[in-house]
Amino acid sequence: MLVLGIETSCDDTGLALVDENGLVASVMASQVPIHALFGGVVPELASREHARLIGPLFDRLLQESGKSLQHIDRIAVTRGPGLLGSLLVGVSFAKTLSLAADIPLIGINHLHAHLLAAGLENEIPFPALGVLVSGGHTHLIRMDSPVDMHVLGKTLDDAAGEACDKFGKMLGLPYPGGMYLDKLGQLGDVDKHLFPRPYIKNETYDFSFSGMKTAAALWLEQHKNAGLHLPPLGKEYAEEFFENAPSETKNGAASYLYAVADTLVIKARRAIKEFPAACIIVAGGVAANSFVRRRFAEFAREMRLPLYIPQNKFCSDNGIMVAYTGLLLAKSGLCHDDTLTAVPRGRI
Ligand code: KG4
Ligand code: ZN
Repeated sequence: MLVLGIETSCDDTGLALVDENGLVASVMASQVPIHALFGGVVPELASREHARLIGPLFDRLLQESGKSLQHIDRIAVTRGPGLLGSLLVGVSFAKTLSLAADIPLIGINHLHAHLLAAGLENEIPFPALGVLVSGGHTHLIRMDSPVDMHVLGKTLDDAAGEACDKFGKMLGLPYPGGMYLDKLGQLGDVDKHLFPRPYIKNETYDFSFSGMKTAAALWLEQHKNAGLHLPPLGKEYAEEFFENAPSETKNGAASYLYAVADTLVIKARRAIKEFPAACIIVAGGVAANSFVRRRFAEFAREMRLPLYIPQNKFCSDNGIMVAYTGLLLAKSGLCHDDTLTAVPRGRI
């Protein structure tokens, strides 16, 4: 079964073809250089870019894979959560193809797709504890099977990615700050006591990362020379920008990221005590963070559980995870009709 996956929930336009043997082909266009000029995603610009890019990207996908529309058995599309305008571009494109070529549609939950992407390269044992960490979401999810997931806890305010992006911005790093903060932090030393573990003195599995911002602002007050003020050039920064940064900035970045990672582990530990799992999955853009990867590797070793974190290239938004989730859902007999619509918020 050949499944087309379409991802347009935020600022990445991703399309991919996946079958039972894995990835067939994928194409992707990032809008980072556009949004970097504004220090964050501008929803109106994001949807316009998706609309401009999606047709040519689909043609390229067919060309590179040597497939045609007739070879596609299912069309899987992200229907939420995400930015309404961006989601609508993907959903409308998927519905058009579906109607034109009579191919069944499957609407995909973006968060589930991030987590299930871990199964692309591994056989995942269920139940699993899913730790979904992205720019807009931080969820602990009990995954009983690919089609049976339950949210145990989530952030009450900022997501882990937002906490990283905001500290990055405060330090003068370009958008998206989290990725650059990681580059800086890898050159620094961790002081485990420099930043707090927010919202842990309670019995819940929820998170609240907004307090990290305040702690970061206070730290910056006391380290006035830590700011970098790099121009918003987008992705390609020379390594020496980071190497030449003051050591207090590198150490601050390392300690902050460690605190974020440790907070995630504290709540994951609590969840796993209550809901024993056969493995831990960490996914979403922030799963690319080296501190998060390392901290969870330590935690999983301690718990004697297998840990699955997708390769960095599968952590950020992409069409592959959507196509793969579509394949799993199709195998379970799931399918939607043309009333499928975008669901920017809430339960899907
Ligand atoms: O999953 P994703 O690509 O998009 C959403 O669904 O939100 O996640 C994007 C988030 C951004 O906040 C970005 O800064 C963060 O993931 N991110 C990182 C790293 N790479 C991406 N945060 C920390 N360290 C990284 N290496
Ligand atoms: Zn995402």
